[in-house]
Amino acid sequence: MSIFRDDLFRDQVVLITGGGTGIGRGIAMALAAHGADTAILSRTAEHLDPTATEIRNSTGRRSLALVADVRQPEQVEAAVGRVVEELGRLDIVINAAAGNFLCPSADLSPNGFGTVLDIDAKGTWNVSRAAYHAWLRDHGGRILNISATLHYGGTPGQVHVAAAKAAVDALTRTLAVEWGPQGIRVNAIAPGPISDTEGARRLFPDTIADRLKRIIPVRRLGRIEDVVNLTLFLLSDAAANINGEIVVTDGGLCLSGNLN
Ligand code: HXC
Repeated sequence: MSIFRDDLFRDQVVLITGGGTGIGRGIAMALAAHGADTAILSRTAEHLDPTATEIRNSTGRRSLALVADVRQPEQVEAAVGRVVEELGRLDIVINAAAGNFLCPSADLSPNGFGTVLDIDAKGTWNVSRAAYHAWLRDHGGRILNISATLHYGGTPGQVHVAAAKAAVDALTRTLAVEWGPQGIRVNAIAPGPISDTEGARRLFPDTIADRLKRIIPVRRLGRIEDVVNLTLFLLSDAAANINGEIVVTDGGLCLSGNLN
């Protein structure tokens, strides 16, 4: 049961990259449950189709599955064009597509580093840019980027992701200032460890999850619903004066000196 009004996003159209799985899926389901039509975008139809079907069946809202690679500007522009054409508008963009793997810097290849930069940083830029030109510039709207906290300190095995998420934070602040006057709010969420996600599977096995639970100040791991609730708030008019912020949801972990 959501604490937010059922019609909070009624008839708004939201594009969610990485919307087929994990945090992106949770956000897509929640926005649809609060009245939005969604377009979810990912490289693989297998990730998208079950989620789009579930959204349609459980909420009765439209949900468009778009196969595209956020690294490819032409594919992104075509996908954004389809959202406007088929769903009629584009009010909100969620950049949740991301790539990650653990790898010590000494073993990371140039292509490994560049691939994650391309997905996280260039992908966020490609999608934001395309949405701006296709709709947001003339109508206003909101962009929400999914960042991280691992670049606030030094996280071993994450040099590529830390660099990429630092770029996402820079994009968030810069676009918030440039596009704010056009009625576009740009914010980010920086989740700490969130259970039941691909990131968790890649970054921390159960033994580390148990250790994390003991050191996180609120004594539990994050949940997808924590990110979802923050998303609903930041996208709502209750957050109308919040722009260019990167809001952490990690139970206080990165303040505790135990980030790594
Ligand atoms: C070292 C690796 C590697 C690994 C890939 N590479 N995996 N290097 N260790 N485990 C290298 C490859 O060798 C190659 O370099 C380069 O990276 C590109 O690999 P590809 O497999 O060709 O790339 P691609 O098919 O495009 O896949 C991208 C990917 C993949 C990022 C590598 O894992 C992916 O698609 N991930 C998407 C899902 C995902 O990662 N979700 C988790 C997000 S979690 P060479 O030199 O060999 O050519 C997240 C949370 C962050 O973001 C914060 C958490 C707290």
